[in-house]
Amino acid sequence: MRNMQTFNGLFTKKIENRLIYLSRMEKPLKDKLKIVKYIPKNVANILDVGCADGSLTIALAKTFPDKIFLGVDLDDNFLDLAKEKAQGLKNIKFEKIYLRDLLARPERFDVVIFCSVLHEFFSYGEGISSVLKAIADAHELLRKSGVIIIRDMILSEYTKNANLKCLEVADKIYKAGLDITKEFEVRFGKLNNIYKINHYLLKYFYQENWNREGKENYVPVTIEQYGQIFSLLGMREQSESYLLDFFKDKWKKDFNLTADEISEFKSTGIIVAQK
Ligand SMILES: C[S@@+](CC[C@H](N)C(=O)[O-])C[C@H]1O[C@@H](n2cnc3c(N)ncnc32)[C@H](O)[C@@H]1O
Repeated sequence: MRNMQTFNGLFTKKIENRLIYLSRMEKPLKDKLKIVKYIPKNVANILDVGCADGSLTIALAKTFPDKIFLGVDLDDNFLDLAKEKAQGLKNIKFEKIYLRDLLARPERFDVVIFCSVLHEFFSYGEGISSVLKAIADAHELLRKSGVIIIRDMILSEYTKNANLKCLEVADKIYKAGLDITKEFEVRFGKLNNIYKINHYLLKYFYQENWNREGKENYVPVTIEQYGQIFSLLGMREQSESYLLDFFKDKWKKDFNLTADEISEFKSTGIIVAQK
């Protein structure tokens, strides 16, 4: 229960502007629904961890009316919104329960989804330990051949050592003169490799919620590290990563980045692992 207390104490108080937070999550809903193709056809029960106001869970439940969905979160206000929005849908339930506590119950799942949530487990929990525990719990909650789907901001390990073109990009960022650049560097270090610049580019524009967003580590676990975790769990894994168009346009406009410079960066990773 310690994590639950940490979460309630540190996390819920810090969502200063819930409407901004929710609209930010809802914008890429269409892209989030890319995970649909990874949901196997003949499965019955799907768990959505960190469902927030239920936008994604509800969209999935409408796409798959024959499957039963459970959305869990620890935020009462988000869950109230989710329940309200899901009225009339028979194949969906929302509940405030800590992931680990589901293990005490008999129900098991064919699919466990973590969408835009594991970086929050990392940032508001106990770092990598909370991510490892969440994935291990999900693994334990899965039926045979069950699938874990992670969609989040995920970068590659090699970008930590890649600095080709990064001086030019960092220069353009410094020239823009945003105060939050200094704050970012105090927390995460100088913009001296692709990994850190990519992390910065994913968050600099959340200035309204900066007290919260600035502290979060958006990219705490690399694609390769997820691969290692799933390999230890004996799961077969596949992944894809890409850059949403929204970012391309924004970075070009805000920092005058060229298409060549932008090509170094990613916004999104999807990792699918089967038990
Ligand atoms: C960025 S939102 C993502 C919401 C939704 N999955 C989506 O993609 O639209 C992250 C959600 O994870 C929830 N969350 C963070 N840590 C959690 C934890 N340890 N257990 C359950 N939910 C958690 C937050 O309350 C928040 O609603």
